Amino acid sequence: MIDYKKDKMYSTIFDKSNSKNNTLKDKENLIRLKESLPIYKSKSELLQAIYNNNVIIIVGETGSGKTTQIVQYLYEDGYHKNGIICCTQPRRVAAVSVAYRVSYEMNVDIGSLVGYTIRFEDNTSKETKIRYVTDGILLRETLNDEQLDKYSVIILDEAHERSINTDVLLGILKNICQNRNDLKLLVTSATIDSYKFSNFFGNAPIYFIQGRTHKVHIEYLRTACNDYIECAVQKAIEIHISDSNYDNNFGDILIFMTGQDDINATCYLLSERFYEVYSSYKDYNYNKQNTIKKINNIINDGGGGVKDDSVSNIRSEGATKNGAIKNGTTKNEGTTKNEGTTKNEGTAQNERHIVPFYVFPIYSQLSSEQQSKIFQKYDLRKIIVASNIAETSLTLDGIKYVIDSGYCKLKVYNQKIGMDVLQITPVSQANANQRSGRAGRTGPGICYRLYTENTFLCDLYKNNIPEIQRSNLSNVVLLLKSLHVKNIFEFDFIDPPSKESIISSLYNLWVLGAIDNQGELTAIGEKMVLFPLDPPLSKMVIYSEKLKCINEILIIVSMLSSSAIFMESKENTDAIESKKEKFTVPESDHLTLLNIYTQWKIHKYSNEWCKKNFIQFKSLNKAKEIYSQLYDIIKTLNIKNVSSSNNWDSIRKTICSGYFHNAARLKSFSQYTNLITHVSCFIHPNSSLYNIGYTPSYVIYQEIVFTTKEYMRNVTTVEPEWLCELAPLFFYMKAGV
Ligand code: CDP
Ligand code: MG
Repeated sequence: MIDYKKDKMYSTIFDKSNSKNNTLKDKENLIRLKESLPIYKSKSELLQAIYNNNVIIIVGETGSGKTTQIVQYLYEDGYHKNGIICCTQPRRVAAVSVAYRVSYEMNVDIGSLVGYTIRFEDNTSKETKIRYVTDGILLRETLNDEQLDKYSVIILDEAHERSINTDVLLGILKNICQNRNDLKLLVTSATIDSYKFSNFFGNAPIYFIQGRTHKVHIEYLRTACNDYIECAVQKAIEIHISDSNYDNNFGDILIFMTGQDDINATCYLLSERFYEVYSSYKDYNYNKQNTIKKINNIINDGGGGVKDDSVSNIRSEGATKNGAIKNGTTKNEGTTKNEGTTKNEGTAQNERHIVPFYVFPIYSQLSSEQQSKIFQKYDLRKIIVASNIAETSLTLDGIKYVIDSGYCKLKVYNQKIGMDVLQITPVSQANANQRSGRAGRTGPGICYRLYTENTFLCDLYKNNIPEIQRSNLSNVVLLLKSLHVKNIFEFDFIDPPSKESIISSLYNLWVLGAIDNQGELTAIGEKMVLFPLDPPLSKMVIYSEKLKCINEILIIVSMLSSSAIFMESKENTDAIESKKEKFTVPESDHLTLLNIYTQWKIHKYSNEWCKKNFIQFKSLNKAKEIYSQLYDIIKTLNIKNVSSSNNWDSIRKTICSGYFHNAARLKSFSQYTNLITHVSCFIHPNSSLYNIGYTPSYVIYQEIVFTTKEYMRNVTTVEPEWLCELAPLFFYMKAGV
């Protein structure tokens, strides 16, 4: 096993000041490492195959070097002389992290020869020849450059993920390839099941990279578990206790959870449980507060993301109330077939020290600094708690144990409420296999599946349902319309979405005034497509000109597009809550966001001010950046920035112009019903409108989250007259409203 601790490069990936590898030793190590990757053996053969074919499918296990190496091979072979080499990633985290990695490997500064572009963040320059982008960014580029002429090679990476943007790009690029003989298109996938891609491109050749994976032993539960967080934490502690040694040769543990809430709850619970176990050892000399604090810090620094309601709290609280692990009783009886891992119990208590471990959360909303921490090597075991981001997009070395909750969060279009919701769903067999594969990258490993073998064989789908077949297509349809795809039903999708979902997206766009009765883009629609925002948000921005509140709406949209505004901490909840209250505008979450930003501006965008108010400086800064980018688009559209600022009614009305389809009326006590779908919903406990002493009669909301009930998130009170004025087809006074 490579001693990563000594291998400096693992701690430098994201460190901008240190992105170059200068010493000879570094260079030698790096060359050794690059040459040890499975793809290296195929280098010349692969380049030959690319030379001979315009489209080629490349299949290789995660970690074989597809994402980081192919671009460098192409560069060495001179492909950059004819245009930029572009590599797409479905996830922003992956785009950023691999760009840093490759800039490190090529010994250049990030943003020079190697750069990345993700939404609202461009780290490229004129010099950039290797460009990592999210698939969404490349898709938007087709609007200005229909043939994507500036690229000599496009790599659609992680195509097996079947993200909606990659799927649409597959169709668009198929067309481009027919016109451009000079373009090389590489479609890469981590699953063998890639014939579909080959067929789609007229039997394009598939190139298989010989893997080097080690055996992974799979353990199932004997009976289903009730709480996968609890179960995963127990298992991780059990592994940690039974397999720790002093030469720092730990095998790290990777736990797959569904998303931010589960991940944070797991991290908290790990620290709690660790303390309990730790305190039961004789030579215990560890301070509980420190452990908890450390873990809290890790989680809070990570911050980011849309705050969800109390799920994590309920879960972690509920979980900690359950029986604690004490006196080394880590047996986890009956839950797994494997008893081997718990054999050390008892002996450990007297003879061995229990060493602490590091816990790292990883999910896409986490800041890049936080994410970078998981790549570093530490002298203690790492327990990484990840979303499905760690399935294939990020390569983590040194994982020996995988704990698979069996669930993931998927965006699913909910017909009933007419929008996408993130839903916790069982993984597919393909996901489960990718997850277990992560344990066998650097040596043999074990994967604990927190479900029964029968569940795996009989209940799980073989493959994922592609995103395009389960989510809202409004954005895609709007984009295709502006790419002059007249008939969306005839677009060459690798797996076409259902007719109903195309019709429902066309309808949503029509409702917003983006397309007319003939299905053609309207003037509003043409402007809307220029904003990298969801259609209702771009509609708001455009409508704000009319009501003279552009500036305010841009701030609100930017704040919504940034990460979580307030810090989260279990320790300071009361203090945070009281600060939050200070900013609350009781009639609107959107106005509350505006208020926070305005106060920050008054305080000269100060970091100190943020700290004092438990506000995440980074999130506000991000919002500021987004604001200026949106402002640039406004300028190109010749929209005049006239603001009769502080006319909060105009602002609320503008918000209503994008979200009137989510208008709800108070039905009883705290229950609302959507005026169009008649679905019941409640104000989210985190909302500014929650418990304000009165319940407004009419509100609009941005989304519904399902937890204990259907909660509306990002809510603003509206006047019923506005609904009638803005959407006369839906609402009329008396009878309808
Ligand atoms: O794309 P694929 O999964 O085939 O592999 P890759 O992402 O190119 O990773 C190849 C190797 O580069 C991994 O085994 C890691 O050791 C290393 N790597 C890294 O250290 N840091 C990154 N951000 C990405 C990759
Ligand atoms: Mg990859």
